[in-house]
Amino acid sequence: MSNSILKLENIKKEYKDKKFTVGVLHDLNLTVEEGDFISIMGKSGSGKSTLLNIIGILDVPTEGNVYYRKEIINNFTEKNRDEIRNKMLGFIFQFHYLLPEFTALENVMLPALINKKKSKEEVEAEAKKLLIDVDMGHRLNHKSSELSGGEKQRVAIARSLINEPALILADEPTGNLDDETSEHIYQLLKKINIEKKQTIVVVTHSRELGDITNKKYILKKGKLQLGG
Ligand SMILES: Nc1ncnc2c1ncn2[C@@H]1O[C@H](COP(=O)(O)OP(=O)(O)O)[C@@H](O)[C@H]1O
Ligand SMILES: [Mg+2]
Repeated sequence: MSNSILKLENIKKEYKDKKFTVGVLHDLNLTVEEGDFISIMGKSGSGKSTLLNIIGILDVPTEGNVYYRKEIINNFTEKNRDEIRNKMLGFIFQFHYLLPEFTALENVMLPALINKKKSKEEVEAEAKKLLIDVDMGHRLNHKSSELSGGEKQRVAIARSLINEPALILADEPTGNLDDETSEHIYQLLKKINIEKKQTIVVVTHSRELGDITNKKYILKKGKLQLGG
């Protein structure tokens, strides 16, 4: 039997307002196995962010089932959903959501301090290591408001990793970065996947990133197709 971390079954997603219904996902299925490095590509407006929000339990499908480690979570309370998100998931968005008045180091440390599982010293050492990994070792004590867009995104990536989430979800993580920085981020994600065995699902426009992942999908007409 496969060791699935997440499964989506017959997912349908519609956005409704008074006048219109926008159908985005139709009968979509996806299984994410432990250790996968999955890329999802697709045209702008094809529903990639919608799909990632459902995977990340930030939104609910109109129809269909979402399983985490074989447990169906459709009817979980908001508290239970928060718990899964905090324990299992790391998010990397296109825009970073760092706290501007906090330093790079403090921003990365914060989710781990909230978790209270490790001492402050331990957390600080790990946060420094992650920031060095994303080439931000020289900006540890800069406020995030003093960093460039690319630097902020690298800090956000380090932050998403601090609690060692089983599943990392990234929505166009290099959308705002130059080619060289993007390449560095792809290699970093690959390293994380291989060395830390963290599972990654990344939505991307980048063919290059698509090429280093293990499974490639294209989101088209509301469904995932295996891509070459
Ligand atoms: N909150 C929302 N309300 C209504 N329509 C939405 C909402 N979010 C996204 N959509 C629509 O759903 C479609 C898919 O959007 P999205 O998932 O953001 O696509 P992608 O990330 O692939 O660019 C688009 O047509 C978009 O306009
Ligand atoms: Mg999007």
